[in-house]
Amino acid sequence: MEFKHLRLESVTPALGAVVHGVDLDTVTQPAVYEEIKQALWDRQVLFFRKQKLSPDSFRRLGEAFGTPEVHEYFAHVEGFPQIQKVASDGTASPYTDRWHADVTFRARPSMVEVLRAVELPENGGGDTLWASMGAAFDGLGPALQGCLIQLTAVHDLPWSFRKNPYLGKQNTPEEELELIRKHPPTRHPVVISHPVTGRHTLFVNAIWTKRIENIDPRLSDHLLAMLADWVQKPEFQLRFHWEKDSVAIWDNFATQHYAAFDYAPQPRLMHRMTCGSAAPGAAARSGREGSAA
Ligand SMILES: [Fe+2]
Repeated sequence: MEFKHLRLESVTPALGAVVHGVDLDTVTQPAVYEEIKQALWDRQVLFFRKQKLSPDSFRRLGEAFGTPEVHEYFAHVEGFPQIQKVASDGTASPYTDRWHADVTFRARPSMVEVLRAVELPENGGGDTLWASMGAAFDGLGPALQGCLIQLTAVHDLPWSFRKNPYLGKQNTPEEELELIRKHPPTRHPVVISHPVTGRHTLFVNAIWTKRIENIDPRLSDHLLAMLADWVQKPEFQLRFHWEKDSVAIWDNFATQHYAAFDYAPQPRLMHRMTCGSAAPGAAARSGREGSAA
């Protein structure tokens, strides 16, 4: 892929590129954002170093990928409700130290996320890992692909919160009902066709996916555990070491991520935008079962 404004340094064959030649704080040409988008759809996660972004520039960058969202639970930067503060004080697991995609409990999850390192732990920890769910699907082979492509899964926030031992809060029945009312379970295909690239992509994850429909619950548990194990294969992954003012942009439909929690008790603060929500569509059941990208 040739670019006029960017220079890309690939990270692994499966995914990732470090982008050179762009100062995200001073971008004025739509053509630059257009190239960043093309690079993102191709590499699934992009990294930029030494980006001193003002909140306005950060917001502009996020808006290039669609309407920014206001998150249900994160605090935000003052005056910028679209810029979420993702903070850990380092004493308890932030519950993101497992492989997942974000907000798949919504009918229209965020497709693009932008994360910027504001305050990092002094021990050098707090890396983030990403894995390509297109590569994970490709690696399954045609027999399993053909089976999984027929299945639908339930994603459920209240269920996920209930089984999370780290949150430590026991809801009253009324609070629980309110949570369920606000976040009813949602259904997504186990394999989606990526909304932009059309690539067949695994779309179940270890935080939000409760069960696979229309099969015995025990089989559902085993199948989800098998897929949760499969997506951890190192060939599908990369690991990114943050520096202050590093920026990552990732495709939340094409990847899963894992926030390494190895910095307790030091604090870590990131600023995040989530943009361009979409309804994940089912992959076609006939024809080519592999990558369409
Ligand atoms: Fe996450």
